[in-house]
Amino acid sequence: MKKIIMLLSLVVCMSFSAFANDQVALKDKIENIDDASFQCIKSMTKVRGFYVDNIDSERLDETLLVAQAGKGEYPAGSIIQLVPTEVMIKHPKGTNDKTNDWEFFELKVDKQGSKIHVRGFENVVNKFGGNCLDCHQKAKPEFDMVCEQGHGCDPIPITPAMTAVIQKTDPRCEVNYTLNAEEMAIAKQLKALFGG
Ligand code: HEC
Repeated sequence: MKKIIMLLSLVVCMSFSAFANDQVALKDKIENIDDASFQCIKSMTKVRGFYVDNIDSERLDETLLVAQAGKGEYPAGSIIQLVPTEVMIKHPKGTNDKTNDWEFFELKVDKQGSKIHVRGFENVVNKFGGNCLDCHQKAKPEFDMVCEQGHGCDPIPITPAMTAVIQKTDPRCEVNYTLNAEEMAIAKQLKALFGG
């Protein structure tokens, strides 16, 4: 009996330390986020209108579970993007209560890759002068600050058809996507609205 208890506690200890190591590895990966952490949006996994990933590829399944369910708390390491230049990354629990541990990023992207232009928790403002947190915190609590449509956030001035074209023309992707006539018309509209 004593032997069994010893064995059991050894197994518990070992799995706990494996869990602890795992957490440290994830924390390291999150702490080392830099320009190279971001790639072509189409290399991520599409869920409805947006793309998800996890900084630790072994945890992508956990992120996908929440994204596909359409509600719930995203696990640490989750990366979410609607357009190539704006990103949310989930830090470990307790990092920032006000943002539900999300860090917001605005990137500059071109053929060469991504450059982090601004990053942070509460004070990140996008190129239209909007504070990320101000909008995203209006999502009802069960959506963990993910806005999509109808979650309670203030709307953005781009339609789902426009975001689809922006995603398809991410300049970081190796194969350039050829737009069809309808998409070309939308791209023109985007250019008129936002320049570039
Ligand atoms: C004016 C309000 C507003 C501001 C400011 C804003 N967002 Fe959003 N964001 C939205 C809305 C609304 C959506 C959903 C749009 C859709 O699905 O069509 C969205 C979508 C997203 C998504 C995809 C996941 C989701 O929530 O649906 C990410 C990631 C994101 N925004 C990041 C950012 C970042 C980073 C910033 C700041 C640099 C930012 N946003 C600023 C309103 C805003």
